[in-house]
Amino acid sequence: MNDALKSLNRYSTPAKALSAPAPDQGQLEQILSIALTAPDHGRLRPYRFISIRGDARHHLSDIFGQAILQREPDVDPAYLQKQKDKPLRSPLIVVVVANLIDSPKIPEIEQMLSAGAAAHNILLASNALGFGSIWLTGANAYDPFVCKQLGLDEHERIIGFIYLGTPDFCIPRAAPPRVDDYLKNWE
Ligand SMILES: Cc1cc2nc3c(=O)[nH]c(=O)nc-3n(C[C@H](O)[C@H](O)[C@H](O)COP(=O)(O)O)c2cc1C
Repeated sequence: MNDALKSLNRYSTPAKALSAPAPDQGQLEQILSIALTAPDHGRLRPYRFISIRGDARHHLSDIFGQAILQREPDVDPAYLQKQKDKPLRSPLIVVVVANLIDSPKIPEIEQMLSAGAAAHNILLASNALGFGSIWLTGANAYDPFVCKQLGLDEHERIIGFIYLGTPDFCIPRAAPPRVDDYLKNWE
C-alpha cells in the first residue's frame, strides 16, 4: 500500500493500554491543527477542545463520580470506583465539544458532522505521530452535570472523550471489512 495511505490505517487502542508518554503540548497542538482542517460548512469551526492531563484527570474522575451518584444514588460502590478510575487510565484526554450555533443555512447535523470529522482527525493524526488513541463517550458524555463542570454552555455538547497515550501493545486487528459490501457503483 502507498505510504501516505498506510498512515491513514487508523486503529483504536483500549484506554487501559495507553501509557505515558502522551503527546506533549507541542505534539498536541500539531494534532489539533490537523483536527482544525475538518470539512466545515460556512467556516463555523463548530467545535473546541479541552485537554486534561496529569492531576487534572483526578478532577475529572471526581466529576464522573458525582455525576454517577446523581444518576444512580444506590450505585454499587465497586461499579462507582470502576467508573471513577476511567479517566485515570490514560495520560491525556481531549474532550471534543461541539459548539452549535443557530443558523438558518447550516443545520445542527452538519455542525455535529464537522465536529465529528475534527474528532476523527485527532485519531488519525495521533496514530500518524505514533501515539494510540480511542474515542469514548458513555453516559457521562451526555450528563448535564459533567457538561456544566467542564464549563460548557447550553449550546455545547460533548461528542467524545478521546484518550491518548503510547500503546502498551498492539491489539490483534479483525479482518478489514470488504469494500464490496459497502459500495454500489450506480449506473
Ligand atoms: C461517537 C463514538 C462514541 C464511541 N463511544 C465508545 C464507548 O463509549 N465505548 C467503547 O467501547 N467504544 C466507543 N466507541 C468505539 C471506539 O472508539 C472504537 O472505534 C471501537 O472500539 C472500534 O475500534 P477501531 O476504531 O480500532 O475500529 C465510540 C465511537 C464513536 C465514533
